[in-house]
Amino acid sequence: MINQTFNVDFILLGFGNYQILHIPLYLLFFLIYMGTIAGNLFIILLVALDQHLHIPMYFFLGNLSCLETCSSSNILPRMLFNLVTGSKMISYTTCFVQHYLFGSFVSVECYLLSAMSYDRYLAICKPLHYVTMMNGRTCFTLIACSWISGFLANTITLIIMSKLVFCNNRIDHFFCDTFPIIELFCGDTHALKVFLYVLSSIFTFPPSVLTLTSYTFIIIAIMRMPSTVGKQKAFSTCSSHLLVVTIFYGTLMSIYVVPNTNKLYGLRKVFSAIYTIITPILNPIIYSLRNREVKDSLRRLLHFVQV
Ligand SMILES: *[C@@H]1O[C@H](CO)[C@@H](O)[C@H](O)[C@H]1NC(C)=O
Repeated sequence: MINQTFNVDFILLGFGNYQILHIPLYLLFFLIYMGTIAGNLFIILLVALDQHLHIPMYFFLGNLSCLETCSSSNILPRMLFNLVTGSKMISYTTCFVQHYLFGSFVSVECYLLSAMSYDRYLAICKPLHYVTMMNGRTCFTLIACSWISGFLANTITLIIMSKLVFCNNRIDHFFCDTFPIIELFCGDTHALKVFLYVLSSIFTFPPSVLTLTSYTFIIIAIMRMPSTVGKQKAFSTCSSHLLVVTIFYGTLMSIYVVPNTNKLYGLRKVFSAIYTIITPILNPIIYSLRNREVKDSLRRLLHFVQV
C-alpha cells in the first residue's frame, strides 16, 4: 500500500547539492543548448534549401539533425529549469514520457547511423550500382523504418517500466534514464536489469553489426584503391560520418558498459551528461567543418544572401 504512494511524483537529484555550481552549469548548458538548436536547424535549412544537397546522404544528415534537435529538447529545457529554480520534482507521467522519448531517440539514432553507413558502403564499394540501389524510395524507406522501429522498440520497455512498483522516489540522476529509475524498484533489481539489457541488445545489436560490417568493407575497399588521390577522396566522403558513429558508440558504451558500482556512479553521470548534452552539438560542427559539400553549400548560401 505504502509503495503505491511513490508512483505519484519523482524527485530528480540532479547534480547533487553543490549549489555553488548550479549557476555556472546553467549558463554553460544554456549556451550549449542554444548552439545545438542553431547548428542543427542550420543543417536542416541547408539541406532543405540547397538543390545540390537533395541526395540521400544529405537527407540522412537532415534527419539526423532533426533527431538531435528533438533529443536534446527532451532533456535540456527541463534540466535548465530545475537548475535555475532549484525545483527537483518531476511528475510520474512526465518522467515516463521523457524516459520513453530518450530511449526511442537513442534507438532511432542507432538505426539511422546504420542506414547512413550502408549508404556509404554502397557509394564506396558498389559505385556503379549506387544510383539505382540507393534511390529516393529506398532512402525514404530506410529513414521511415528507422523512426518507426526506434519508437516501437521502446514500447515494450515502457510497458514493463510503467508496471513497476517503486519503493523510493528519489532518482539519483539529472533526467529519467532507465537504470537510475530501476534502482527504486521494490523487487529484484538485478534480474530486471539483466532482462532490460537483453531486451535492448535485441534491438540495438543488428544495426550495430550492420554499421560495423559496412565500415569494415569500406576500409578494406579504400585500402585496396591504387591511387592516393582516390583513397583520400573516398575517405573524405565517409570520414565525418565515421567520426559521428565513433562518438555515438563511444559515449553510449561509456555509460552503459562501465560497471555500475557506487564509486563509479558519479563518473556515469558525467558520461551521461557528455552523451545527452555535448554530442548533439557535435554533428553540425563535424559536418560543417569537414564536409566539402556542406561548406560549398554554405558559400553559395552566403553568396545568394549578399546578391
Ligand atoms: C528526412 O528524410 C526524408 C525522406 O528521404 C526527406 O524527405 C526529408 O527531407 C528529410 N528531412 C530533413 C530534415 O532533411
